[in-house]
Amino acid sequence: MKVLILPDAQAAIARAADIITRAVAAKPDAVLGLATGGTMVPLYDELARRHRDESVSFAQTTSFNLDEYIGLAPDHPCSYHHYMQEAFFDHVDIDPARTHLPKGDAPDPQAASEAYEALIAQAGGIDLQLLGIGQNGHIGFNEPTASLGSRTRIKTLTRSTREANQRYFASFDETPQYAITTGVATILESRKCLLIATGASKAEAVAQMVEGPLAAVCPASALQLHKRATIILDTEAAGNLALRDYYETVHPRGRDSAFD
Ligand code: F6R
Repeated sequence: MKVLILPDAQAAIARAADIITRAVAAKPDAVLGLATGGTMVPLYDELARRHRDESVSFAQTTSFNLDEYIGLAPDHPCSYHHYMQEAFFDHVDIDPARTHLPKGDAPDPQAASEAYEALIAQAGGIDLQLLGIGQNGHIGFNEPTASLGSRTRIKTLTRSTREANQRYFASFDETPQYAITTGVATILESRKCLLIATGASKAEAVAQMVEGPLAAVCPASALQLHKRATIILDTEAAGNLALRDYYETVHPRGRDSAFD
């Protein structure tokens, strides 16, 4: 794991945007695994700015989002389809036909999950998987105790995840209980992973992911098995790391080391 600690959230987002824009420059038809959530909003803003001001192009990329709530149609204002449209797709030159999210309103969500997994494979797999982390250590909607061998499927959301996401809905009861999410094994198969965590509320989950045991109770700890996982943190999210000095020695201010 490459742990990059940046002075603040803005610097963390800029560092993540650098990695993504470099990946797309190196491989214009890259397959991107995308995430939603509050952490990603400033990242998509920054990528849209680079598209506008610096001609960064997503025209040939293909995207697969991690997850979608079951029961929400794409035009539902709280769906991840809607989020992606508003936060990113509407502001860049990505081809809508090459953007994919699980179909939360499919009549048979299990079949839709299997079809989604097959579609990722058909696209040649994911080159760069973007990830956030839940306060409970989830990645995608792989909640604590999710199988580390899991594939795209239906997951029941924990109370803590529903409480964290309640801010987007009118009430807790209206916050969906089920989602389709790509699995931990699906995520581990991506050629590179880029996880971003900002803010003190993520510090404990980050410490478990990076320095805790490899355990399904913290699904993000599965990234310990990934050969090319980069973790981008601000100082608050890095606050509980026992080996923080070491990470900062290897990558001062989150810069690449001479041996990267
Ligand atoms: C969303 C997703 C989730 C979020 C995580 C963090 O597509 O996969 O794992 O990345 O819940 O969300 P925020 O950034 O809102 O704290």
